[in-house]
Amino acid sequence: MNLDMAQQGLLGLLTSLGRKFTLRARSRPGPAGPANVHVQDRGPFASLPGTDDLPDFSRAEPRSRNLRGPSEGNGQVQMNMAAVRQAEKDAQMKAIVYTRYGPPDVLHLEEIERPVPKDDEVLVRVHAASVNAYDWHMMRAKPFLVRLMGVGFLRPKNRILGADMAGRVEEVGREVKQFGPGDEVFGTVSGGFAEYVCAPETALASKPANLSFEEAAAVPMAAITALQALRDRGQIQRGQKVLINGASGGVGTFAVQIAKSFGAEVTAVCSTKNLDKARTIGADKVIDYTREDFTKSGQRYDLILAANGYHSILAYRRSLSPGGTYVNAAGSMAQLFQVMLLGPLLSMTGSRKMRGFVAKRNQKDLAFMKELLEAGRVVPVIERRYSLGQAAEAVRYVEEGHARGKIVITLDDNPQT
Ligand SMILES: NC(=O)c1ccc[n+]([C@@H]2O[C@H](COP(=O)([O-])OP(=O)(O)OC[C@H]3O[C@@H](n4cnc5c(N)ncnc54)[C@H](OP(=O)(O)O)[C@@H]3O)[C@@H](O)[C@H]2O)c1
Repeated sequence: MNLDMAQQGLLGLLTSLGRKFTLRARSRPGPAGPANVHVQDRGPFASLPGTDDLPDFSRAEPRSRNLRGPSEGNGQVQMNMAAVRQAEKDAQMKAIVYTRYGPPDVLHLEEIERPVPKDDEVLVRVHAASVNAYDWHMMRAKPFLVRLMGVGFLRPKNRILGADMAGRVEEVGREVKQFGPGDEVFGTVSGGFAEYVCAPETALASKPANLSFEEAAAVPMAAITALQALRDRGQIQRGQKVLINGASGGVGTFAVQIAKSFGAEVTAVCSTKNLDKARTIGADKVIDYTREDFTKSGQRYDLILAANGYHSILAYRRSLSPGGTYVNAAGSMAQLFQVMLLGPLLSMTGSRKMRGFVAKRNQKDLAFMKELLEAGRVVPVIERRYSLGQAAEAVRYVEEGHARGKIVITLDDNPQT
């Protein structure tokens, strides 16, 4: 058995749950009481080179502490007290906090202490975030295996949910070279459902100039997954026949457009209500999975990306052209176990490759996506917008599994739902 493939399969299983995570969280008493959260983590795509230096907020002094000074006289005391109160208020932020695993009801909007960037980190004022399947896997710690991956066995170590975000740089650490205050950025972080978040600069890229914050927040995890699955794992080539199963979701809507940008002929598999959308974003052919099983049509594809839905690994193999590649990014547990256990064996017996896949956070790929987005070759599909206070509803909706494109959380006052 090809060990690399087996490992990849296992990672594929875990990644479709969000994973490859290393998190450490600390709490310490402070002005915000129990909700005072200090987080160290490597983010959802933990294997990115350069994410080894973790934020250590336990070393950071609360901002307000530095502002307390000696006072002279009653007027001065009052002024100082007001300044301290203001400073403490300024050091707070709203965030979606959860202290136990469970359904969306465990998510609460709380006032907590704003994080302080380490030397190699950037503090971002978040303008928009987006919801991924990853978020509800982390929220529920499901499947159970997630708990064994360092995210907290009994309760979440990182108590702020959210990964993808876009915003404006507020402060930078001393060693940060790529960004300065005021820069507009997007990326995958840890704790993105908050007014502020700290992240290593390598987790971020400049926001595409033609995109709103909401559009930019919709991009990172789903688009990077689609890009790496097609280009790196699938070795996509111009003129190939490519099928995307689950073409109407977050990953799928990017996958259709990215495959088109590589010059492929794209077939999108989705349900009746999403056929038009699939055509709009460039699919050459569409298949309604409620009426037709593409694995039984006799059609063959050079590359198949499974972003959602279920077919047995043998059915996928049957739909591949000789020399073709199947990339499994997600789907049912059965599908994931099949690619993990049988994929390496099937790949050795014949010319067709059956591969699992794990996305990795990668700044270069964010920059790659920026170019595609700015060229208008890829356009984020956003179905709904929620406010930060409605984050639980947003996650609940994504968990239902039928979102069209991306669901965005806007930190503006007037979300359009
Ligand atoms: N491997 C990795 O590294 C990696 C990285 C990120 C995400 N993932 C995983 O990738 C998966 C997809 O992510 P996502 O963001 O695209 O999820 P998503 O947005 O929640 O997917 C929802 C979409 O899936 C479609 N769908 C549901 N059942 C389907 C079926 N039987 N056949 C075809 N389409 C179906 C739905 O369309 P209808 O409403 O028309 O049914 C809907 O548009 C998730 O499981 C996620 O965990 C993996």
